[in-house]
Amino acid sequence: MAKASASFLLDHPSWHYVLQEFYLAYRFGPAGGSADIRRHQREVQTRLSRCLNGEPRLVAQTAETKPVVNHLGRALDNGQNDRMASFIRALAKITDDLSWQYGYDRMPRSLEKKYAYSELLGPRGPVQCDDLILGLVLFSPKCTYPAHSHEDITESYLCLSGYVSENQAGVYPPGSLILNQAGREHAITTSDREPVLLAYAWTGPPEALQGFKMAFSQGKVTTGRRPAKPAE
Ligand SMILES: [Fe+2]
Repeated sequence: MAKASASFLLDHPSWHYVLQEFYLAYRFGPAGGSADIRRHQREVQTRLSRCLNGEPRLVAQTAETKPVVNHLGRALDNGQNDRMASFIRALAKITDDLSWQYGYDRMPRSLEKKYAYSELLGPRGPVQCDDLILGLVLFSPKCTYPAHSHEDITESYLCLSGYVSENQAGVYPPGSLILNQAGREHAITTSDREPVLLAYAWTGPPEALQGFKMAFSQGKVTTGRRPAKPAE
């Protein structure tokens, strides 16, 4: 991807195909009989479809890496052999463009080598969209991502590679969708030997998506709105 300035998503077919994979996963993925999950899938599908039909801009970002990205190759290899193989193949074409972040002003040492995320679409880009955030999160083996919740934001994790557990309840293989309603506390653990790659989707009011800030508080993470600027 050119690092110069903003262009249109359609000028970057590899990025468009990744977002198309998101669309297909939320359009045709099973809901397991859950009305809440089906509702969320439709919401993501509708917002993404509206965004793509509006010819969104893609704002070039500087590629950034983090230590956990050393596990990305293995995660992609594992994912090629599983249900999300088409998604994984599309992702493999844009990995050089990704900007991996921690998202926290202060990172606990225990997570520095085990976690990073990369946003793909949202109010902050790189693909511009006001009412939806899509991204990737990568975990090393033996990672515990502490309990956290998202104020005013509904989140789903779409499992792409590896085996993950949430709240010590259930093990989710590739192809699984995990729904976390706004405010619901959840913690993630990964298996001993293989990394985990998840895609995620956040829906909520534009002001919540534009202003979110992640912070750890006494071992917990909260995702909430940035505090309003004090009056001058
Ligand atoms: Fe979360």
